[in-house]
Parts: sequence; structure tokens; C-alpha cells
Amino acid sequence: MSYWTAPAGLFIGYGEPAHADHLARLHAQGFYRGWPRDDFEAYLADRLKTPAYVALDARRTPRGFAMLRLSGDECELLTIAVEKKLRGKGVGRALLAAAVSDLVTTPVRTMFLEVDETNLGAIKLYKNFGFTEIATRRGYYPKPDGSTATALVMRADLG
Ligand SMILES: CC(C)(COP(=O)(O)OP(=O)(O)OC[C@H]1O[C@@H](n2cnc3c(N)ncnc32)[C@H](O)[C@@H]1OP(=O)(O)O)[C@@H](O)C(=O)NCCC(=O)NCCS
Repeated sequence: MSYWTAPAGLFIGYGEPAHADHLARLHAQGFYRGWPRDDFEAYLADRLKTPAYVALDARRTPRGFAMLRLSGDECELLTIAVEKKLRGKGVGRALLAAAVSDLVTTPVRTMFLEVDETNLGAIKLYKNFGFTEIATRRGYYPKPDGSTATALVMRADLG
């Protein structure tokens, strides 16, 4: 079992099916359209294909997570979210760093992600990790007022 250190008294470990409820709740806090809890359980059961990195507190309660989907020498950052009151403390950066360092043991050399073009905080985080914009997808994200937001597709070469 691998662990990584994280700020705010947290540590990062692999996600497990038992984390499904917490991850669904954290995800719903961060995004307009949450994902069903059962989808999380299925992803968490398949660590080789969809590994999750979970920031845990001393009680082992998830306070943030990042989830990937691996496919050959590529992977996608499916989602990343940190509990609202713990944002801005470096937890998101630690989650991404844990994921990227773990990929060294896999064939993955390129990571992709999609992000709402108005999510400037997340975009800054990704640029710090070497992600660059490679495409845009208009009308990609539904918004609560019925309008849509454009997604940026970003890519990072992991070397
Ligand atoms: C995006 C998210 C995961 C970042 O997690 P976080 O723990 O708050 O981020 P960190 O504190 O690790 O920030 C790391 C870097 O990201 C950037 N950043 C993160 N949030 C930011 C914000 N709101 N404004 C500006 N920069 C921000 C900064 O560059 C920061 O580095 P710095 O401290 O050197 O300035 C978190 O804000 C979140 O859960 N948001 C809701 C869900 C979401 O939008 N996910 C991404 C969708 S693609």
C-alpha cells in the first residue's frame, strides 16, 4: 500500500469501494451535475483501470480525491475535488502530484483532462503541472441557468 503526504494534516492513499459515499458527496459539492454513488463504487473497484487518490484525515475520512482512467500509454483525469473548507491549502496540488508520481510505474506517458474554461483556479493548477490547452469543446457543460459552458481540453506529457 502506497501513501503520500498532503497538507492540512491529511495523507493520500488509494481509493477503495468503501469510499464511494464520501466521494459522491465531495463530487456533488464541486460540480453542478454530481455522479451517482454506484458509479463511484464501480470505478473504485477497478483500481488498475480507474485508480483514485484520496486525501484522508486522521479518521480516514476522505476530504478530497482525484480519479483517473488509464488506457494504454494515455490517461484522463476524470475528476478532482477537494472539500470546500479545505480548498486553497495545497490539497489539490498534492492529489495531482500523487497521481502523477504513481503513473511512473505504468506505461502512461500522456495525461488529458477537460475543464470549464471559466474555472480559472483549476486551470492554474493544471498549468503548474505542465498542462497546455489543445482544443475547446463548446456547449460541453450544462449550467444551472440552462446555458452551457465551453470545455478546454488540456494535455500534459509526463516524460
Ligand atoms: C480545483 C480544486 C480541486 C483545487 O484544489 P485546491 O486544494 O483548492 O487547490 P490547491 O490549494 O492545491 O491549489 C494549487 C494551485 O492551484 C491554483 N488554484 C487552485 N484554486 C485556485 C483558485 N480558486 N484561484 C486561483 N488559483 C487557484 C493555484 O495556482 C494554486 O497554487 P498556489 O498556491 O501556488 O497559488 C478545488 O478548488 C475544487 O475542488 N474545486 C471544485 C471542483 C473542481 O472545479 N474541480 C476541477 C474540475 S476540472
